[in-house]
Amino acid sequence: MCGIVGYIGEEQAAPILLDGLAKLEYRGYDSAGMAIYDGEKINIQKSMGRLKVLSELTHDGSTMPGCIGIGHTRWATHGEPSDANAHPHFNESKTIAVVHNGIIENYVKLKKKLTDKGYQFLSETDTEVVAHLLDYYYKKNEEKPDRIIETITKVMHRVEGSYALGIIFQDQPDRVYALRKDSPLIVGKGAHGNLIASDVPAVLKYTRDVYFIDNEEIACLTKEEISFFNSDGESIEKTSKRIDWDINAAEKGGYEHFLLKEMYEQPKTVRDTLNPRIKDGQIVIEELGMTDEEICAINRIHIVACGSAYHTGVTAKYIMEGLARIPVEVDLASEFRYRNPILQKNDLVIIISQSGETADSLAALREAKEQGITTLGIVNVVGSSIAREADRVMYTWAGPEISVATTKAYSAQLIAHYLLAIHFAKVKGMITDEKVADMITELKALPAQIEMLLANKEKIQKMANRYVGAKDVFFIGRGIDYAIGLEGSLKLKEISYIHSEAYAAGELKHGTISLIEEGTLVISLVTQKDLYLKTISNIVEVRSRGAVVFAVTNEDNTEIEKNADYVIYVPQTNKYFTNSLAIVPLQLFAYYVSIGRGCDVDKPRNLAKSVTVE
Ligand code: AGP
Repeated sequence: MCGIVGYIGEEQAAPILLDGLAKLEYRGYDSAGMAIYDGEKINIQKSMGRLKVLSELTHDGSTMPGCIGIGHTRWATHGEPSDANAHPHFNESKTIAVVHNGIIENYVKLKKKLTDKGYQFLSETDTEVVAHLLDYYYKKNEEKPDRIIETITKVMHRVEGSYALGIIFQDQPDRVYALRKDSPLIVGKGAHGNLIASDVPAVLKYTRDVYFIDNEEIACLTKEEISFFNSDGESIEKTSKRIDWDINAAEKGGYEHFLLKEMYEQPKTVRDTLNPRIKDGQIVIEELGMTDEEICAINRIHIVACGSAYHTGVTAKYIMEGLARIPVEVDLASEFRYRNPILQKNDLVIIISQSGETADSLAALREAKEQGITTLGIVNVVGSSIAREADRVMYTWAGPEISVATTKAYSAQLIAHYLLAIHFAKVKGMITDEKVADMITELKALPAQIEMLLANKEKIQKMANRYVGAKDVFFIGRGIDYAIGLEGSLKLKEISYIHSEAYAAGELKHGTISLIEEGTLVISLVTQKDLYLKTISNIVEVRSRGAVVFAVTNEDNTEIEKNADYVIYVPQTNKYFTNSLAIVPLQLFAYYVSIGRGCDVDKPRNLAKSVTVE
């Protein structure tokens, strides 16, 4: 929900911190700040508003000299966006500064204890509790040789909840400390200094050698060295990983918005996720690590995720049940984790997550593991918490996805689902080699078909311009078309702020159809041939009540012309794969409506890229 950075080295820290925060702004952007040691004391500058406010306040960092510092960009959880609530936070004597991503769940109790000891609080945040708690234990550990590590481990044992913390101590100005529990944190080893950050894009400009910090581990950075400790203060060894991402992947590459860039990266994303798993005409998912016997023994699959990832799960249910005849339950992670799910020995729990850090999805994973159920993560961010904690992980090779609204990772998740369903069906003898070969051919055709749909954006743009003033938009469909509507509706809502609902087309008449009135826009997905006529009858129902119908259908379904006001055709593909194509015009529609309404496409209000709190 927030982004933290830190630097210690030979260079001036402020510009490096600002650059890193700019790469993390997608994680939260209601306020920002930096704390930098200037050779004598720690200075803090922080302000409400986007990062550019902080850049202007500090003249791009030039008013904050020093080579050691920490920075923060915030998505408010406790305490409204304000200068006082912005991070970093100081202890009272301003000798310790802290930045934090996560939630200290027992902060009220800790704040009371500290207040009773005479501590004064300047903000409403949970994070400020950490600053004063560090101060409290730092004073108590005065005699201890490794005083600061002792202090930090004491605080770790007192706080409950999630945290990625960056800390600097005025008494030890040649070090930056960092630690995490359930919020992401990486450490970068650079040629001219070392860095901490919430995510890899923030350090790529300076280093490709990255350490992924595990839960309840502490990192201590000097200009030259990086050392690690566990929560008992004992030294531990960690190995760095080489990040081979193309640095431009985290830049806009000439597009006006990351969202448009990432939409246009979908063909590549599909290829990169698909091709490594097709060998000699067979689907090979090496990372799955499941024998044919284990696959045949699966008696139920639980797919658990949030948001768009959940929508791919809804699609996957139709495909896995249709091809492999394995029962599939799809759950919102925030529901799954609290409904005491009934899991059985031979179940498989699949957690889908682009960031691999979504709190609800991570909690669902842990719930399944506590019950001893095999877990598979379908994850985009390498080394993320879900990727590391799931028994097995199948990566979606979409590269860094910066825009808050997901597109290319969503498309990659669909590919992962297709591959799993076909592989499971083949292992269970439900489909022939020829059928597999045909589907592989259809999968390999998807990138070019997506490119073709992206190339025809003008028609969508015109259509979108007509509806920038819409108040309510409905998406209807049956089967996989319903799942496509769920994602199309979320895209429109989250980046244009227009109210929208996705409805199973057959369900509309059970109440919601009362909302249809003259001019209401209904976007109808009609890609499932065996359901064409059923959905068309629903289109007729809404049109007879005044709706304007925008249909997305297969190119051979000319029948639709007389029943819809606008039609977008998508190329022929396997009925199970139509989501990968039909979603493209819906993404473009949402994008152009958002632009038309002057919304911030890449950083929509109230949202963050990774929801790492409940
Ligand atoms: C989708 O555009 C949103 N950004 C959001 O619904 C997202 O899909 C959801 O928060 C899940 O995130 P994850 O895939 O990183 O777990």
